Amino acid sequence: MDNALKKTVLRLFTYGLYAATTKQGDDVGVMTVNWLTQCSFDPPLLALAVEADSHSRQVIEASGTFALNLYESGQRELAGSLGRTFRKHPEKITEVAWQPGPATGSPLLENALGWVECKVTSSLPTGDHILFVAEVVEAGLNREGVPLTLKETGFKYAG
Ligand SMILES: Cc1cc2nc3c(=O)[nH]c(=O)nc-3n(C[C@H](O)[C@H](O)[C@H](O)COP(=O)(O)O)c2cc1C
Repeated sequence: MDNALKKTVLRLFTYGLYAATTKQGDDVGVMTVNWLTQCSFDPPLLALAVEADSHSRQVIEASGTFALNLYESGQRELAGSLGRTFRKHPEKITEVAWQPGPATGSPLLENALGWVECKVTSSLPTGDHILFVAEVVEAGLNREGVPLTLKETGFKYAG
């Protein structure tokens, strides 16, 4: 395989951008993600790939839950900020306003367009990430708006 071509083609895939959040006691995880898809209508399931060595992965495994907050068009800076690693920026969650979700306690960002809360139903190690399959158990819409896409930001997390 031509690795450069593989990277070029995979970077043509289209993605939305979300803040995945999770909480277990005082331990809070937050990360920007785009490797997310719906994978069942009934029950309503999502699949999310999370870096195997991330702090958020540990908190998701401890709590068995996470939320996905939809970034709005124009929130590139916020997506970049929450995409910095906990290792270097353990305070990143304190830079945003949030409330615990009603179903799971996962942080819901006040300036997100909307959110879903999820309970993990299974997980699978997938190379350098771990794939969490989770059921949507609650959802909310903060306002109408246009969601942020990976393309709008110019960030690259594919390839
Ligand atoms: C635009 C963008 C998209 C990202 N997409 C993902 C993703 O889908 N999955 C993932 O595990 N990390 C993704 N990351 C990297 C994580 O946000 C980052 O490494 C993260 O903060 C690690 O989690 P931690 O801070 O809990 O350790 C993305 C980062 C950016 C900037």
